[in-house]
Amino acid sequence: MKDNVRKRIDELRKQINYHSRKYYIEDNPEISDYEFDQLMKELEELEDRHPDLITPNSPTQRVGGEPAEQFETVQHRSAMLSLDNTYSPEELLEFDKRVRKLIPEQEIEYVAELKLDGLGIALVYEEGRFTRGATRGDGATGEDVTSNLRTIRTIPLVIENQLPVMEVRGEVYMRRKAFQKLNQEREENDENLFANPRNAAAGSVRLLDPRITASRPLEIFVYALTYAEGANFSTHYESLQFLKDSGLKINPHTKKFGSIEEVLKYCEEWTERREDIDYEIDGVVIKVNSLAQQTELGSTNKSPRWAISYKFPARRATTKIEDIIIQVGRTGSLTPVAVLTPVSLSGIVIARATLHNEDEIKRKDIRIGDTVIVERAGDVIPAVVMVLEEKRTGEEKEFTMPETCPVCGSDVFKPENEAVSRCTNPECPAQIKENLHHFASRNAMDIEGLGPSLIDQLVKKDMVHNSADLYYLQKEQLAQLERMGDKSAQNLMDELEKSKDNSLSRFIFALGIRHVGTRAADILAERYSSIDELTKATTEELQEIDEIGPRIAESVEQFFQQERTKRMLDKFRNAGIKMQEEKSYHESSQPLNGKNFVLTGSLESMTRDEASQYIKDAGGKVSSSVSKNTDYVVVGESPGSKYDKAQKLGITILDEEEFLKLMDSKEK
Ligand code: IVH
Repeated sequence: MKDNVRKRIDELRKQINYHSRKYYIEDNPEISDYEFDQLMKELEELEDRHPDLITPNSPTQRVGGEPAEQFETVQHRSAMLSLDNTYSPEELLEFDKRVRKLIPEQEIEYVAELKLDGLGIALVYEEGRFTRGATRGDGATGEDVTSNLRTIRTIPLVIENQLPVMEVRGEVYMRRKAFQKLNQEREENDENLFANPRNAAAGSVRLLDPRITASRPLEIFVYALTYAEGANFSTHYESLQFLKDSGLKINPHTKKFGSIEEVLKYCEEWTERREDIDYEIDGVVIKVNSLAQQTELGSTNKSPRWAISYKFPARRATTKIEDIIIQVGRTGSLTPVAVLTPVSLSGIVIARATLHNEDEIKRKDIRIGDTVIVERAGDVIPAVVMVLEEKRTGEEKEFTMPETCPVCGSDVFKPENEAVSRCTNPECPAQIKENLHHFASRNAMDIEGLGPSLIDQLVKKDMVHNSADLYYLQKEQLAQLERMGDKSAQNLMDELEKSKDNSLSRFIFALGIRHVGTRAADILAERYSSIDELTKATTEELQEIDEIGPRIAESVEQFFQQERTKRMLDKFRNAGIKMQEEKSYHESSQPLNGKNFVLTGSLESMTRDEASQYIKDAGGKVSSSVSKNTDYVVVGESPGSKYDKAQKLGITILDEEEFLKLMDSKEK
């Protein structure tokens, strides 16, 4: 009996490792996410029942252990050097000359790689198992971040080669899209934003609680094999191939060249193309390919002589801070923003930069009138990198946070251990406006037509004090507002009416409870299924829910206890807003469970987002590209190449009518 279980567990682990590699490393999955999840589930269940059979490298054990007090330090096997930089074609050609002078009359081959803008780390594998991961630190010693790195799916816990010891270097990074999503969630949850994907990646690797790291969308590319006991390679390129064959992820744009001129072309091409890929690169790394030549060239104590980086021009510019203004957010947070002399930064004119908070301004000693360097990184609002102190005239003015809210004049409060000051007046017009904006936003109630200028007027004219008031507006009132007419007033009335039927989770998110983002709202809606029940939940009870931490729990309880909230919920109720989830549809039937959909072309009766929502509500999944795992391709007007691909693969194609029919039949 036990032998059978052991055998099945082994088999499951092998399959899961195989499919993880296909999915995470090779971007070429053979089974659907659903099937993969089923394998994981079976393994988890077996391990649950037979805890003695759990091994540390089981795919279920990526997130383990309690938060650490601090990281241990580790000595790197060989120093993690840095690279010399070049900034122009001339400098790159000089590098080639230097190399040729040091090892004359030899053919030289180069490998050019993208210079990934993340966090450099070292991984140790022993007999095919991932045993240690460390940050670069000062180059000689780094921090042991093994538990955190184990949570990254692109780092295999077990690899194909069984070398006694092998050390690999690579870069942990975050994709732009994932970074934006993370920041968006952080904004919703009222947490500090990361300035760029590199900071987000580095910050996430250096968290003391691996469970939080596990929730961050980190990835890795490895770019060097620095130690391999029992293996012998003659070129860097070969060693990369070996790493790839072992199941590690190398960057697909790495290329071999016979001359520096070709390398230069590659550098110039990537200077242009850097925005085309979904992760940030800040240059190209050029390495002499032959390992014998590398040894011959050697290193200085800072950097190797056989490699160099070609840095792209920075997306930075110098400009002046004309003023510092205060923006009041949805939860009353006061954010200082620099008003800049407009300056062009890689094609975009920028006039504002966030200064985050008072501490940040003090730390960087930013004053009004200062000449500063601004940087655009990771597609977020530009940030002030540093002050050019030598440009000071003495006329600069130091900035102090106001003690009253610049919008409503109420007192400002800054909790002892927080960086953010807040306006204490929940009726502050700025907060009301932000709340309305949030309430109407796409992931919340999705009310089209309720834009900033309309919100401005509604608040200024005292027509709404909170989002519930929206449902008591009369068409005639709306029609009289600026830039509104009968038609747009009617449209907004229709939108409001439609929004009354939104899912409970959308409604919870829309309420704008501090720290409750879309994910937490989903979880709360799933657990409570009505606002009435949620209102009664205590902090203790809420905290017991998986993924709901003390901060969210407290904030939820506090929100629902306020008299203001109770009055507002009554208003919502009287207006006929759906405040519970009908269980029959939600729980008993997930008719499209595990089915994979792809949408192409535009539908007549709904937007793509709406169609996606329908599918997801019914348990299905929506992907952006067609593969053999796709079950249905829904085709609208003027479909793209996905249609052809679906035909080629023989996947069921639904037109709009058929799709609606399918949804209809499944709903019952
Ligand atoms: S090779 C001795 N290759 O750039 C060679 N480094 O200043 C050392 N980096 O901290 C590194 N992409 O984290 C190499 N393809 C790549 C790289 C890369 C990014 C980082 C690395 C290091 C820094 C070098």
